[in-house]
Amino acid sequence: MTETILLTGGAGYIGSHTYVALKAAGYEVVILDNFSNAAEDVPDRLELITGGPVQVYKGSVLDRPLLARLFAETQIDAVVHFAARKAVGESVVKPLEYFETNCSGLVGLLQEMDAAGVHRLVFSSSATVYGVPDETPTPETAPHRHINPYGLSKITGELVLDALAKSDPKWAFGILRYFNPAGAHSSTLIGEDPSDIPNNLIPYIAQVAMGQRPVLQVFGNDYPTPDGTGLRDYIHVEDLAEGHVLSLQALLSTGQSHLVNLGTGAGHSVLDMIAAYSKACGRDLPYEIVDRRPGDVPVYCAQVDKAREVLGFEARRDVEAMCASSWAWVQARARGNAY
Ligand code: WQD
Repeated sequence: MTETILLTGGAGYIGSHTYVALKAAGYEVVILDNFSNAAEDVPDRLELITGGPVQVYKGSVLDRPLLARLFAETQIDAVVHFAARKAVGESVVKPLEYFETNCSGLVGLLQEMDAAGVHRLVFSSSATVYGVPDETPTPETAPHRHINPYGLSKITGELVLDALAKSDPKWAFGILRYFNPAGAHSSTLIGEDPSDIPNNLIPYIAQVAMGQRPVLQVFGNDYPTPDGTGLRDYIHVEDLAEGHVLSLQALLSTGQSHLVNLGTGAGHSVLDMIAAYSKACGRDLPYEIVDRRPGDVPVYCAQVDKAREVLGFEARRDVEAMCASSWAWVQARARGNAY
């Protein structure tokens, strides 16, 4: 029997790559997205990549009547839940919007799932739940530490799911803590496509490489790291998508919950990434050292043993592949994706 998966936020960066991976794994997939952070033509591009029609419900995860209609119209077997706000800086300015979408949105989704008899969900969590970790590489046993409303909203989501699973064994959840997603799909039809000034490093470097920005600002080079700039565990978005498929397969086959980091276990500095992207685009990219960004931590790096043991997951693509795929994507995007 072919299971049908509801992908909330499925037109977004990680969601769209997960759509492709789920279809390749043989699932039927339905997307719910309000397109607040995704281009309207992403479903068209997903149709090109997967070779078949893409079913989309356009709307917010907060729209309970829409959720009820969706579950009434389509037999959903499990949910992969991406729909959330995810900009740390914005969360400091608009905390209520983050708690509404990321917390109330999750609770409402779970209520509609329960009413429809759906009790399997993969949850998009984040390394941000570790705050400033004591230990790197950071294991899943590290304590929750929120240092911004976004991180608190993700911690709250994890705690809600934990309490729900403890309340009734009918529920099973896959909680996936991402580190730093990067790169784009090999087709160059989908990738990271920020609608305004990029917060994250890779899309900003990409815009410098494209000549859309004059210079990259490196937020501090006085951190306790080898070259003084921030270290992060960058993971290719296609590896991340494949991790979601493994999480879903484990949930559907065992009915047991799991919580794992999704990363590579390797840390790369800002200067490392500038060098890798310069190699990908064929020129030395300009940068300047400026003050630290408030809220940044020196190092985020995943301990990855548990994902390998529990899901059989291991990231396969390296930083060069992330930068090469990002560079191919942004050039194709600038040409209008020529499809
Ligand atoms: C990476 C490094 C910066 C931009 C983000 C999200 C977080 C989570 C993980 C979703 C840091 C430096 C960046 C720039 C720079 N995503 N940098 N100049 O901060 O690790 O977290 O990804 O769950 O929500 O915020 O990623 O890409 O912003 O920064 O020097 O213009 O690059 O200081 O060391 P971060 P990032």
